Amino acid sequence: MESKRLQEIVADHGKDPAQLLAILQDIQQEENYLPKETLKELARELGVPLARIYSLATFFSSFSLEPRGKHICTVCLGTACHVRGAPRLVDQVERDFAIKAGETTADRQLTLETVNCVGACALGPLVILDGEYHGNMNTAKLGRVLGSLKKE
Ligand code: FES
Repeated sequence: MESKRLQEIVADHGKDPAQLLAILQDIQQEENYLPKETLKELARELGVPLARIYSLATFFSSFSLEPRGKHICTVCLGTACHVRGAPRLVDQVERDFAIKAGETTADRQLTLETVNCVGACALGPLVILDGEYHGNMNTAKLGRVLGSLKKE
């Protein structure tokens, strides 16, 4: 993140160290992750130890310290989804986008993640794309859903 933008975010929160969590959320929302250089700069701006920032950033699973894509594709690999073919869906994304689960494409368009059950087993196999649930997924349907991303 550019320094100027970080300073705007910090200023929006009154340059208040008590607003650290909200500031991290704003950075995460814009960058889709928390860049290390930005966190170092934030520590200087707010006058708080970098370790404190990292402890917050690692405590909340909504934060990522690794670059993530513009789009997040999450395939459920819980038991119900697994037996209905979810591993084939993971294979398909890995093959089509040349990444492994947990990775992001070089152009930062897509991150592939897996989870173990999100409690919507009746919809399995389930794929969540940018927070939207796509149930009863199959390879043809997934190809269509992800194909629209490739055209962006
Ligand atoms: S196993 Fe996939 S939602 Fe439960």
